[in-house]
Amino acid sequence: MKSPRVAILSGVGALNTYNLTLAKELNLPLVTNLNTIDKTSEFYLHYDNEGLSLYNSLEQTKSAVRVNFDSPALHRRSKDRLLRQNLIKATATKQKQKLDVLDAMSGLGNDAFLLARAGYHVTMLERNEIVFALLRDGLHRGSKGLPDTRDALTRMMLIKGDFLKKGGELGTFDVLYLDPMFPVKRGTARSKKSMHLLQQLLGQTEEDLGLLDFALSKARNRVVVKRAKHSPNCNNRHPQISFKGSTSRYDVYLVP
Ligand SMILES: C[S@@+](CC[C@H](N)C(=O)[O-])C[C@H]1O[C@@H](n2cnc3c(N)ncnc32)[C@H](O)[C@@H]1O
Repeated sequence: MKSPRVAILSGVGALNTYNLTLAKELNLPLVTNLNTIDKTSEFYLHYDNEGLSLYNSLEQTKSAVRVNFDSPALHRRSKDRLLRQNLIKATATKQKQKLDVLDAMSGLGNDAFLLARAGYHVTMLERNEIVFALLRDGLHRGSKGLPDTRDALTRMMLIKGDFLKKGGELGTFDVLYLDPMFPVKRGTARSKKSMHLLQQLLGQTEEDLGLLDFALSKARNRVVVKRAKHSPNCNNRHPQISFKGSTSRYDVYLVP
């Protein structure tokens, strides 16, 4: 999926090769001047010493979204009673410890990372090219990161594609995890900001009516759907189990 509203800001020296290559790969305009970007594109990507970042060109603060699997916040989450977090409780099955999970809408890979930290093997699917590029870069840098990050990343694999198309080629998984985009409140927390920017980039998409049935056909044990706390059920189907948190919930659909 191509976004015409995104440009790539070129850099200096050797690092610029990455920006040039990415502009070609994604077929996006390469721009040398930040002021020009403001007028032509709502968002821009830029690669520098810190990695690949996405910016909203219209925002004064120019806060960046980048995938950082070494981030202290993510590591805190992955240590803080990980097995008692709703994501892990919802995906855990009694039969097996080392689950094969398909995170069919992997976004910035935060949930995939937590699942991998819990010991699961996680295949990540992402259909948006910009998000895919951010995640691919994060995985690349993470593979040279902290020992815990490197260990988790050995269990994470990224594939580009739309779940409803590519999913058919992928066989079955113990657990299918779906986290479609849902409206995020304008929170001030840093983690929420990145999700907010992602939401601005991707916009709202209609939920495919066949999504849940297709996911169930690919799952050996269960499908877990993340929803905002008060969002309607996926495809209007009641889950068998639901793990509710303060802002979100994880609905579990068991394979019959
Ligand atoms: C809310 S984000 C996922 C956030 C993710 N769980 C995390 O922890 O960072 C939803 C992502 O799913 C992707 N997506 C939505 N529908 C998809 C589909 N049918 N196939 C693949 N990716 C999809 C969107 O492009 C977006 O990046």
